[in-house]
Amino acid sequence: MSVGTYSLPALPYAYNVCPAFPALQGLVNPEPVAPWILPDLPYSYDALEPSISAQIMELHHSKHHQTYVNNLNNALKSYSTATSSNDIAQQISLQAAIRFNGGGHINHSLFWQNLAPATSPDANPDSAPGLVEAINKTWGSVDGFQGTFNKALLGIQGSGWGWLVKDAHGLRIITTKDQDPVVGGEVPIIGIDMWEHAYYLQYLNGKAAYVENIWKVINWKTAEARFHGGAADAFKVLKASI
Ligand SMILES: [Fe+2]
Repeated sequence: MSVGTYSLPALPYAYNVCPAFPALQGLVNPEPVAPWILPDLPYSYDALEPSISAQIMELHHSKHHQTYVNNLNNALKSYSTATSSNDIAQQISLQAAIRFNGGGHINHSLFWQNLAPATSPDANPDSAPGLVEAINKTWGSVDGFQGTFNKALLGIQGSGWGWLVKDAHGLRIITTKDQDPVVGGEVPIIGIDMWEHAYYLQYLNGKAAYVENIWKVINWKTAEARFHGGAADAFKVLKASI
């Protein structure tokens, strides 16, 4: 038998409709490099006023997040080329861009989903009974939790994010630098963007006021769903945008 003449049998189905792997249906793009797209916001640009202005929301979503998506797609395309040509040096050099822009895409996609208009019932902690019970056990009260979270947010040096996460030991507040995402197995429950582009046009250097007001537009319903799910569930919003 000649190895050189052996060829794989043709698949009887497209990769993205493989009946043997229903979990992959809709998640695997048949293109060599799946272009990521900017997800729609689940509310209008002015829906979070006065906590976050329409101007900030529009720029943040349509310009900043879009740029992360564009740069991620470009980096992945180059990475695919480098992989095809066995260019390991180029593959290594592209990893920083993939981490930064991929993290930016992940973080903002999670962020939009964990915000809601202040008038919505979703913006009330009563929408998260299971999570609030766990918060009370960990920090004594929702106010105590928010105070601890705010301190962590205001302690971030430079650009970064603050997160309420769930891991095997329970709830924790962590911060991440630049656009580093939470991808170590923890479940991201609430993420807050502490880059200047998230508040400066409205709050200028009043970072504490931004932190105080964003709690009025936190989507506790989303937080509750993430609290009861796993890490993969939190990232479903990303998979849906492939
Ligand atoms: Fe941002």
